[in-house]
Amino acid sequence: MLLHAYDHHYAVGAFNVNNMEVIQGVAKAAKEQRSPVILQASSFTGQYADLGYIVGIAENAARLADVPVALHLDHGEDLETCKEFIQAGFTSVMIDGSHLPYEENVALTRSVCEYAHRYDITVEGELGTLAGVEDGRSAEQSLYTDPEQARDFAERTGVDSLAIAIGTSHGAYKFKPGQKPMLRFDILEQVSRLMPRLPIVLHGASSVNQEDIAEINAMGGDISGAIGIPEEMLAQASRLAVCKINVDTDLRLAMTGAIRKYLHEAPEQIDYRKYIGAGRDHLAERVSHKMKNVFLSAER
Ligand code: G3H
Ligand code: 13P
Ligand code: ZN
Ligand code: NA
Repeated sequence: MLLHAYDHHYAVGAFNVNNMEVIQGVAKAAKEQRSPVILQASSFTGQYADLGYIVGIAENAARLADVPVALHLDHGEDLETCKEFIQAGFTSVMIDGSHLPYEENVALTRSVCEYAHRYDITVEGELGTLAGVEDGRSAEQSLYTDPEQARDFAERTGVDSLAIAIGTSHGAYKFKPGQKPMLRFDILEQVSRLMPRLPIVLHGASSVNQEDIAEINAMGGDISGAIGIPEEMLAQASRLAVCKINVDTDLRLAMTGAIRKYLHEAPEQIDYRKYIGAGRDHLAERVSHKMKNVFLSAER
């Protein structure tokens, strides 16, 4: 999936899913756009839902969507977690050793590759710290991925894809108010020059739709000063070596905004299918837009 995206200059959206309605919303968008898609879940998803539910619903969604669908472990903490998700039916895993000292990250990631590749499961590694700009450490070059170290990492671990830090960060507050969003495309280009055809992954890549923020705030929520990655930057990254773009926050915002609005406008409503369904539909629209206009994965 990711090599096809590499060769054809687009990216596959990787959406964090924790329940049936979010899986349905993402799969609906993928079907509409005839786009490949990655459904991903963390170990917190496993704690929330029990993995069997997620795998069963995802497999059903894949059958109905009739497009390529991968089921991916997001931010796997250790080899045991990766094994557990592979045994449960996940088709790829991420091992996140980015917080470890370099040599420990290499050793851990290599051990996961050795295990996973036996089952034909692909592995995503991560190098660099996604602290981003929100904590005021933006000027520190050391947070960004070092391209030479990335080459050494990829060669020694055997990863199938690599998450790098070029200025994105997790959550809804990626830049300070008034600060100009900035991604280090020069690092991305150096990494891809050193490692041709290695699919690159962007974490923390939600765009934080300001209409959804306004909706949440107007309907009793309190999310102020939230800023995401501009869509033009993600489109540019998609045309380059970035082949997988992770989105969780934008789904949370879409779901929360639509549910708040529904309940505000229909205070007598207690049929949860109505308001969760409204969230699901709104989320599907947001995902559809990303596939078509941002990740350029529609009709692939
Ligand atoms: O990067 C983390 C994702 O947003 C997943 O969130 O760990 O709460 O499932 P989670
Ligand atoms: P966002 O918080 O920007 O949606 O990033 C999600 C992510 O990277 C999941 O691994
Ligand atoms: Zn992430
Ligand atoms: Na790409």
